[in-house]
Amino acid sequence: MVEKLPSTGSRPSASEIGCDTSDVLVIHNTFRHLYREAPRLVRGASEDGMRTAAVATHLSTVAVMLHHHHQAEDDTIWHKLESRVPACAVHVGQMKAQHRQIAQMLDRQDDAVASWQSSPDHQATERLSEVVNAIGGALGAHLGQEEEQIFPEIERTWTQKEWDAAGAYAQKILGKALPVRTQLIYLGHVLDSQPPEMRRKFQREVLPAPLKLFWLVRGQRLYRAHRLSLYGSPT
Ligand SMILES: [Fe+2]
Repeated sequence: MVEKLPSTGSRPSASEIGCDTSDVLVIHNTFRHLYREAPRLVRGASEDGMRTAAVATHLSTVAVMLHHHHQAEDDTIWHKLESRVPACAVHVGQMKAQHRQIAQMLDRQDDAVASWQSSPDHQATERLSEVVNAIGGALGAHLGQEEEQIFPEIERTWTQKEWDAAGAYAQKILGKALPVRTQLIYLGHVLDSQPPEMRRKFQREVLPAPLKLFWLVRGQRLYRAHRLSLYGSPT
């Protein structure tokens, strides 16, 4: 089924314009952190031979999350931003091209994960480490450019309602791609990836109360077990 996109709508009145996009930094910090950790995880799992399956599943999950994050941006941001700020067309073109480049790198990651999982020898380990390291580099540059050149223009030309609708769309398509249990476990990675003040703000202002409760009752325990399977230690 084709997912319904948030309406691009007509141009809002001047009094409605202005929004806060800082919530997306939480997502960006998470991807930066996960890809920074990835080469070490791959090499560590290969050395002890016990965690290969867990790390392979983790990398595939992170790739699904990143793919859907970019899909949501492709579906909700570029067209509307270009129509509001035609001068952004060059930057928007660069963002689209970077998404395509990272999508190709994620395909290479999938191939490298499959080879490594079936035979985690030195060659497969080095190949996968290099692939995730390269994604981390390309992604870091891309996210930084979005933060400097794209989000300020959105804050200047979109309403809060429009930005929130784009965020809700992103959550909806990711929610369909990952089981609830996996989403709950990865909430732990989201929390662990933030500087302390951002983590407190996210827990206080963004995390809905039922999810906060679900995390405390069930998620923390699942996340500790997940970390144990990845790192050989729950902390
Ligand atoms: Fe992006």
